[in-house]
Amino acid sequence: MTTEKPLPFVYQFAAGAVAGVSEILVMYPLDVVKTRMQLQSGAGTGEEVYKSMFDCFAKIIRNEGASRLYRGITAPILMEAPKRATKFAANDSWGAFYRNLFGIEKTNQPLAILTGATAGATEAFVVVPFELVKIRLQDKAQAHKYNGMIDVVSKIVKQEGPLALYNGLESTLWRHILWNAGYFGCIFQVRANLPAAEPDNKSQKVMNDLLAGAIGGTAGTILNTPMDVVKSRIQNSPKVAGTVPKYNWAWPAVATVAREEGFGALYKGFLPKVLRLGPGGGILLVVFTGVMDFFRTWRGE
Ligand SMILES: *[C@@H]1O[C@H](CO)[C@@H](O)[C@H](O)[C@H]1NC(C)=O
Ligand SMILES: *[C@@H]1O[C@H](CO)[C@@H](O)[C@H](O)[C@H]1NC(C)=O
Repeated sequence: MTTEKPLPFVYQFAAGAVAGVSEILVMYPLDVVKTRMQLQSGAGTGEEVYKSMFDCFAKIIRNEGASRLYRGITAPILMEAPKRATKFAANDSWGAFYRNLFGIEKTNQPLAILTGATAGATEAFVVVPFELVKIRLQDKAQAHKYNGMIDVVSKIVKQEGPLALYNGLESTLWRHILWNAGYFGCIFQVRANLPAAEPDNKSQKVMNDLLAGAIGGTAGTILNTPMDVVKSRIQNSPKVAGTVPKYNWAWPAVATVAREEGFGALYKGFLPKVLRLGPGGGILLVVFTGVMDFFRTWRGE
């Protein structure tokens, strides 16, 4: 892997963008289901209760129409390109930075985790505003308030102030640091342990990357799901002047949810999430390395 010369930043960015858009077109409906399940607090005040992922799918299609499963996709599409692009480009740039800093020639396991974590923090700054908009559109309780992406942004800025768009930055940082540390850390480990693909055995290479990426995506998801749950809660609470929101900082919010609703509540929506981000992590890595190989050939390297 490390014998290949890194391509310039723009190529990594473009390859990450193509990978991200491919992944989201396939996987978005699971994300809608995940958000709906995470936002249920179990109070059940006359609102619809989803018993499982499949129940949620079925109820949305039956009661609201299948197109609802793609509601709010504009923000993620606009976000996925820069986000995935940032993920991979940041991973490579931070990798070079750390190798230089520590005077290490080749990436090793601790470095792969550190690099991934830093790439995650970088990514978080790009995604927070988009995530906030998406959550407000996906939530059933607030759906009637907004008619689209632009409407959400203008209403939040007007009613809650522009800083409200960065509501949830802290929990988002944790979520992305944990996911990317798990993802890039595992990819390194799995690639190191799989027999290297023959240089021109394309299908073997794709299988290796699919496996490494899927394991990485699954590990990242196991690590970061509690942060995802509290992030949805934090971002879904409108700011009211003069009051402290119930969910405010990430780790205390984790403690609050665990205390009030039990540890299992921290893994609400885990199944749809891991079904998305496990295979999704594989798709990402395959498309990313595929596009990078294409760029290399195209540049005659
Ligand atoms: C992440 O960055 C490290 C360090 O530059 C690199 O060795 C590794 O291959 C990168 N991972 C992916 C999946 O591109
Ligand atoms: C590629 O690798 C796979 C798995 O190791 C092997 O089954 C297959 O025959 C190889 N194909 C070529 C063209 O070498």
